[in-house]
Amino acid sequence: MEMPVLPAGVALRALGPSFGAEVVGLDLRRPVAAPVAAWLRDTLQRHHFLCVRGEVIDEERQLEVSACFGPLETFPEQRKTRARATFYNVANVAPEGGTMAPDDPRLVAQKLNELWHTDSSYRFVPSRCSLLHAIEALPGEAEGGETEFSDMFLAYEALPDATRRRIKALHMVHDYGFDQRLFPALPPLDPAVREAFPPASHPLVRVHPDRGGRRSLFMTANTGAEVSGLGLEEGRALHAELVRHVSQPGFCLRHRWRAGDLMVWDNRCLLHRGRPYDATRFRRVARRTTVAGDGPVAGPR
Ligand code: OGA
Ligand code: MN
Repeated sequence: MEMPVLPAGVALRALGPSFGAEVVGLDLRRPVAAPVAAWLRDTLQRHHFLCVRGEVIDEERQLEVSACFGPLETFPEQRKTRARATFYNVANVAPEGGTMAPDDPRLVAQKLNELWHTDSSYRFVPSRCSLLHAIEALPGEAEGGETEFSDMFLAYEALPDATRRRIKALHMVHDYGFDQRLFPALPPLDPAVREAFPPASHPLVRVHPDRGGRRSLFMTANTGAEVSGLGLEEGRALHAELVRHVSQPGFCLRHRWRAGDLMVWDNRCLLHRGRPYDATRFRRVARRTTVAGDGPVAGPR
C-alpha cells in the first residue's frame, strides 16, 4: 500500500508528549480529495488526537469530513442533538438559539462530560472516533472550558504489575442511563431508549487493532463504577483508583478550543473530559459527529 503523503501546503505539529497533533493549512471548506482522506486516517492512527485549525464549516462539510473515518452513529435522544440526529449539540446554547438556563436538562446532562469517558461506550460496539467542531469558543478571559485527553496506552503501561494482572480479565459496566442516576432531577429516560441501550460491559483492558496488539485501559468515570466479578465496594474502590491514575498530568493533553477547530480523537485509546466553565457568562458552542466502531471491544487473551 502507498504511504499517505502530507498534502501540499499542510503542516503538522506535535501537541502533547505522547499523542496529539495540530494540522494547519488544510481548508475543510473544500471537498476532501481521496488522498487527503487517506492521509487524515493515517495521521489520526499515528497521533490519536488531531486538531485541524481553520474556519467554521457547515454541517454538510462536517458530515463529509467525518465520513472519511467511517459510517456515523446517530444519537439516541433527539433532545441532545441539533436538527439532525448525527449532531450532538455540545453547547450551552440551544440549536434554535438562546442560552440554556442552568437547570436546563440539556445543560445538566453535559455535566457528565466533565468526567473522564470515551464516547458511546454505552453501546455494545463503542465508537471508533469523534469529531468535535468548535463554532463559538470561550473568550480569552474565561477560565476552564478546555477539553482534556488522557493516553490510555501510557496509563495502562504505568500501572503496577499487580494491578495489570488483577484487571486483565475484568469488565466494567457502561450505562447510558447514568445521567438520571447522577442527576435524579432530570426527566426519566425514554423507555424505548432504555430498551435499545441497556447497560453494556466491556473489558477493562483492550487490544488496539491498529497497534499490533498494544494494550490500553478502557474505562469511564461517567458511569456507576460497577466492575463485573468484583463486589460493589471493591469495584468502586478500583474505579476510584483508576480515575485518579488516568488523571495524572503526564498522560494528559489539555486543548483550548478556537472557533473553527475540528478536533478528532480515537475513542479506543484516549479518554477525554470537558473542563468546567461559567456557562451563565460565556457562550460555548460545538457540534459532534461520532464514527461507529467496527466490532465489540477485544480484550487480551
Ligand atoms: C464530547 C465531550 C467535552 C467538552 O463532545 O464528547 O465529551 O469539552 N465534550 O465539551
Ligand atoms: Mn465525550
